[in-house]
Amino acid sequence: MPAYAVIGGQWGDEGKGKVIDYLAGSTSAVVRFAGGPNAGHTVVNDKGKFQLHLVPSGLFWPDACAIIGNGVVIDADVLLGELTELDSRGIDTSRFYVSERAHLIMPYHILLDQLEEEAKGSAAIGTTGRGVGPAYTDKISRLGIRVGDLLDLEGSLASRLEQTLEFKNQIITKIYGKEPLEFDTVFQLCTDWAEQLAPYVRPTEQIVQDMLDQGKNILLEGAQGTLLDIDHGSYPYVTSSSPSIGGASTGLGLSPQSITGVLGVFKAYSTRVGGGPMPSEMHGQMAEDLREKAQEFGVTTGRARRVGWFDAVAGRYSREVNGFTGLVLTRLDILDGFESVKVCVGYKVDGHAQDRFPSNTNILAQCEPVFEEWPGWDEPTASATSAKQLPANALAYVRRIEELVGCKVQIISTGPSRTETILVEPVIV
Ligand code: GDP
Ligand code: IMO
Ligand code: MG
Repeated sequence: MPAYAVIGGQWGDEGKGKVIDYLAGSTSAVVRFAGGPNAGHTVVNDKGKFQLHLVPSGLFWPDACAIIGNGVVIDADVLLGELTELDSRGIDTSRFYVSERAHLIMPYHILLDQLEEEAKGSAAIGTTGRGVGPAYTDKISRLGIRVGDLLDLEGSLASRLEQTLEFKNQIITKIYGKEPLEFDTVFQLCTDWAEQLAPYVRPTEQIVQDMLDQGKNILLEGAQGTLLDIDHGSYPYVTSSSPSIGGASTGLGLSPQSITGVLGVFKAYSTRVGGGPMPSEMHGQMAEDLREKAQEFGVTTGRARRVGWFDAVAGRYSREVNGFTGLVLTRLDILDGFESVKVCVGYKVDGHAQDRFPSNTNILAQCEPVFEEWPGWDEPTASATSAKQLPANALAYVRRIEELVGCKVQIISTGPSRTETILVEPVIV
């Protein structure tokens, strides 16, 4: 009864969507457990190019279900828009389910996300503005409204909305001096969502458990990345959920013992969107060139991603937090043609070696990278489908990353499309 998790090893956008689409053919379900529409997962396959924010990346295979678990926060407009688009492009969405326990992102969450960021000024986190943080805040404060409440409009939804909206309007009007939201408008929105979402609402933990009991494989789709984890990331420059492996258990109602494989997805270099320290960051022309070549612009917000060399200190930390059983290295092709490539193998603070990823963000911001430089490769890795096709220097680079992070690379990705993939060793067995 194996579940396999695919987890972002860095600051998100590692190529999880691509890898999940590649692996989903051997599974019965792809299940999201954390985050919300702040995620943007790109899938490129024989059906076209898709950018998914909420729907898990499994529906492109005829036998895989796509399930959103209780740990995800849902903007119903984004979700319904995505389902409509998939339908219109010929993708069958009847195998999609959403947990009745998942929390809803309400209009006041989106408004408050934006107002809070503005109020923070230069200390802003650089959120995606999708209301994700405020929705998780309400979940923990026990003020949240769940997908299941939509099935009981006049009962639990009306009373919970009335109570919560009154409280939120106090903040919106008294702290931020903005217009309050009308109960009737928000309630009508929920009524519309209820009608359209009802066919998909399920007790998803039972569905997942039944599949595992029947010996089926399931794939757990991580969003964001370990360094954005609310506990283990570079706090406060993090997201408001647990994108690392622990979140998979709480975000689905799944025993950790069911998870037999934990794949850590890493880009062959690093990127980060939004604020917060990034020790191996590149600056100047080199950064501009890499960003342009790699087209590093966010799927959700279109923002330019910050770029840097591969950070093996952060990678090792990420491996420890998640217990990776294998790595996936994506975008190796982006480094094709570089004269040399660098890997950050340590940090220095005030001239003293710092070999661990520090928990204190001020210290992380002071960390200067210690780089190791490796010769680049002229022959392309782009579109290679077997390790034998890789230039010797590219292979040596992969081996060094394995050594530094402390885990075997099981998949190398050499292009955005499903077929541009090297399966170094079997992942789903
Ligand atoms: P995710 O959030 O982890 O799913 O990643 P994103 O979709 O936000 O960003 C990854 C980007 O890299 C997308 O544009 C993918 O199509 C693209 N991509 C994934 N793997 C590869 C690869 O090996 N090579 C290249 N060139 N692009 C890739
Ligand atoms: P995927 O799943 C990259 C970042 C935001 C910001 C911080 C907090 O595509 O890898 P939030 O809106 O979550 O409160 O913003 O987290 N962030 C991501 N960065 N990829 C993502 O998702 C991200 N989701 C959130 O840029 O710095
Ligand atoms: Mg992304």
